[in-house]
Amino acid sequence: MRKYLFLLAAVLFAASCADRQAGNGAADIEASIDELIPQITLEEKIAMLHAQSKFSSPGVPRLGIPEIWCTDGPHGIRAEVFWDKWSQAGWTNDSCTAYPALTCLAATFNPELAREYGESIGEEARYRNKTVLLGPGVNIYRHPFGGRNFEYMGEDPYLASRMVVPYVQGVQSKGVAACVKHYALNNDEVNRHTVNVNVDDRTLYEIYLPAFKAAVTEGGAWAVMGSYNLYKDQHLCHNERMLMDILKGEWGFDGVVISDWGGAHDTFQAIRNGLDLEFGTWTDGLATGPSNVYDRYHLAGPYLEAVRSGKVGTDELDEKVRRILRLQFRTNLAEGYGHGRFTCPEHSSAARKIAGEGIVLLKNDNAVLPVRDARRILVVGENAIKMMTIGGGSSSLKSKYEISPLDAVKARFADAEVVYERGYVGEAAGSQDGLRARVLTENRSASQLIADAVAAAKDADYVLVFGGLNKAQHQDCEGVDREQYGLPYGQDELLEALAAANDKVVFVNVSGNAVAMPWIDKVPSVLQAWYLGSEAGNAIADVLSGDVNPSGKLPFTFPVAMEDGPVFTEEQYPGIWREEENVIDEYYTEGVMVGYRWYDTKNVRPLFAFGHGLSYTSFEYGEAHIDGRRNLTVSVKNTGSVPGAEVVQLYISDTEASVERPSKELKGFCKVFLQPGESRIVKFNIPEEALSFFDADAHKWVAEPGEFVAHVGSASDDIRTSVHFNYR
Ligand code: BGC
Repeated sequence: MRKYLFLLAAVLFAASCADRQAGNGAADIEASIDELIPQITLEEKIAMLHAQSKFSSPGVPRLGIPEIWCTDGPHGIRAEVFWDKWSQAGWTNDSCTAYPALTCLAATFNPELAREYGESIGEEARYRNKTVLLGPGVNIYRHPFGGRNFEYMGEDPYLASRMVVPYVQGVQSKGVAACVKHYALNNDEVNRHTVNVNVDDRTLYEIYLPAFKAAVTEGGAWAVMGSYNLYKDQHLCHNERMLMDILKGEWGFDGVVISDWGGAHDTFQAIRNGLDLEFGTWTDGLATGPSNVYDRYHLAGPYLEAVRSGKVGTDELDEKVRRILRLQFRTNLAEGYGHGRFTCPEHSSAARKIAGEGIVLLKNDNAVLPVRDARRILVVGENAIKMMTIGGGSSSLKSKYEISPLDAVKARFADAEVVYERGYVGEAAGSQDGLRARVLTENRSASQLIADAVAAAKDADYVLVFGGLNKAQHQDCEGVDREQYGLPYGQDELLEALAAANDKVVFVNVSGNAVAMPWIDKVPSVLQAWYLGSEAGNAIADVLSGDVNPSGKLPFTFPVAMEDGPVFTEEQYPGIWREEENVIDEYYTEGVMVGYRWYDTKNVRPLFAFGHGLSYTSFEYGEAHIDGRRNLTVSVKNTGSVPGAEVVQLYISDTEASVERPSKELKGFCKVFLQPGESRIVKFNIPEEALSFFDADAHKWVAEPGEFVAHVGSASDDIRTSVHFNYR
């Protein structure tokens, strides 16, 4: 009898699949779901809503509904872990391509590369049979201590929006759901489970939500991950306003809300406030909680009991199941996506291209770079030899290979003598989830390391210093924030000493965050190199040599000092403890003045501004013109002697607003590749929304009639041409 039922179910199911394949459209999917839901028992439905292992949920094997397998995300496909443990399972076939961190992708200002990134990582996920990629992350960079800033796309909502949409579409074009995270207001890591963010609606809608909204409404994201923290005293994995009112209500999100790992805390809120799929309960996402307790998850036994006892009905349950099935019909129940590809040359070349385009040339006095006529090159610094793919928390990767800067410099400048000096010791033994990087043993004292580097610098043609942060605890790492704005491990002292010994010092800063550079006037050249993944060394050598002309632009501001920025009081960060509820209130009193919006408006000169990035060539801008339909044109010419790319940036100022508005805001950008002497007319249309602010009382976007200015330039602090226009 059981066998007969199973066959019947299989036939029904096969029929619904066949129907859907005939049209492959949304209506077919809904029809298939309508057919399936009545066949699934209450117990099976509940089982679909929560994990069965660290990264999977069970599906309904009886009906051929497959398991859902999630994977981090967002920079490569995470190595397999044990069924019920965070540690690596030790497979030998799961070493992935490590792509550059999302800060680097944002720095390319190139949406086409975001698409390529998405397609490429989507293929890796598909090959590894993953249903959901836990990424991309688009939380706004609020201040330089944020431990996960390196996983996000910078401080500007417009930039993050333009970059996240093609990433999501690229991933999903391969039949893998992108899970946009961490929704929302997860802007720092310290106390991430107990921070309650207090933010006004205007700031929420103008700064913190746009990238999520774009990912959902334009990118069509099939999944969203709730974040750990609270908003309006409710955890964001089951937050009524954020999930029910805004995400599923205002934006019409039809996908699956997945909890962050251990982010669900309350059964009834989870049932009613929009959580669909629960993972990682009793862990903080990184540490180990009790084992094999999946039946005790909020959306497991307690939910079943609530339905059986009549405390809740089954409407929410069916809605959750519907969403999960919809995701499955788009991914592991869909046909025609192919099998993906893994660690192939095409993926390496995508990683190298993105890394090369994202590296930012911050400073280049006396045209020190590109490196030329070098007979002897001194490479200094731990980050020249350290594996950067391991560490940082859940985005840590087991990369098939990782080219170190030192190896790449040796290979690229094979005719030169390349000497290495350690210079400083940071984190000699990196590890994550049982995966260990090569131990970088060093016995010399700090002062001896500096002395040896300085001695070697004296007769070098170039001194290439690789330093920065390194994804160890407090150095760009999930779960903890940074504790100092300055460079760690005595690197300032090292740089001062090297700059005094050699006038061709190049500092390559490997980090996902801004750092202080008190020695900046003495070091002629600085590159911002991010965490670049498998092809890190090659991409850096491409830029150092001039094989790639740098065209990256900063996706966030580098302030001179932390106190210069918008976040400097305790109530803003890390917040004030509210003892009775055991929550820590953070107040976003800086409002919309985040990043360059703050520095510009308050006239505070940063070390390096948002949008800044130099090239080995130069670009000349013509005058901007605007017509009555707000079509703006501007000519840009490559006036140097090598090909290069310029990111033409459009900022809008509202000169007569009824509310305080930032002095200008990014509303368009266009990356143009130009040969020497070539010029191009760049066009922008300025839509009404680019003039608008969010009127919280009326709960709508408002463009006020009056005068506006369109500024066009090479960086937020390097405006080349401005044009006034009126909006009525
Ligand atoms: C992180 C998520 C990640 C999840 C699964 C959590 O700790 O916050 O970003 O996707 O773990 O590893």
